[in-house]
Amino acid sequence: MSFQTLFTKLEDHTLIITINRPDKLNALNQQVMMDLSAVMDRVYKFPEIKSVVITGAGLKSFVAGADIKEFESLTKTEATALAKKGQEVFFKIENAPKPVIACVNGFALGGGCELAMACHFIIASESAVFGQPEVNLGIMVGYGGSQRLTQRVGKGRAMELVITGKTINATQAMNYGLVNYVVPQSELLDKAFSILRVCHEKAPLAVSNSIKAVNAAWNEAVNGYDVEATLFGECFATSDSKEGIQAFVDKRKPLFKGH
Ligand code: COA
Repeated sequence: MSFQTLFTKLEDHTLIITINRPDKLNALNQQVMMDLSAVMDRVYKFPEIKSVVITGAGLKSFVAGADIKEFESLTKTEATALAKKGQEVFFKIENAPKPVIACVNGFALGGGCELAMACHFIIASESAVFGQPEVNLGIMVGYGGSQRLTQRVGKGRAMELVITGKTINATQAMNYGLVNYVVPQSELLDKAFSILRVCHEKAPLAVSNSIKAVNAAWNEAVNGYDVEATLFGECFATSDSKEGIQAFVDKRKPLFKGH
């Protein structure tokens, strides 16, 4: 798997995706967005990939936003189309049938914060900085940030962040409920791996249906309770559910086979 702007590595069934433009603080240009979309297609398709970690190259930045240089000559119509395209890529990440963790190793600004929030949850290094500084440029969030930030931190805090453009550090992000853990930079991937190892032991359909059900809570087009009931039913059509329940009765560890 080779991409112009991403470095990828499969380790213990986790695909580590590193956004690799460190000289530009890993800013999201159109090539990065295309590469992210293409790599996510492979995540959906390949059973050997059981989970994903997204991080940024270098010690300074996860992603410092969309590439501002590409905004210089954008028209109104082009900007709307760009936002729609970016949102599509982030929906692909959010709706992935396998766990996706953002390991935020520095600046997560603008599109970087939006990318982190499109992941299923966030682990931050102590040096992480989060924010939506688009208003400083006379523009605003465009890759789903107004929606996902509100879902994650509540209306008041989201509103303050997007209208002031102020940044928050890892501890504040933790207090806001934006991140699940704050760890030293050197322990970022280990922390993600320790969580993902646990997920890998579970039945894959139970994990992917659980992701779908939680995401349904934020989808106004569906009734999340109905979605949950249907997904719950689907689990009972798998051999893995029989194995999990039988293993409990037998007082042994279940061995899930993925069907
Ligand atoms: N788009 C394009 N290039 C970016 C970028 C972005 N969002 N963020 C950083 N860069 C580039 C800089 O232009 C610079 O490139 P250069 O060396 O060719 O001039 C390089 O990355 C390093 O950034 P620099 O600003 O010199 O680093 P710093 O440590 O002084 O500041 C930040 C770091 C993150 C505070 C600063 O880069 C910044 O404010 N970036 C923009 C954040 C933003 O507004 N994001 C939302 C975009 S919609």
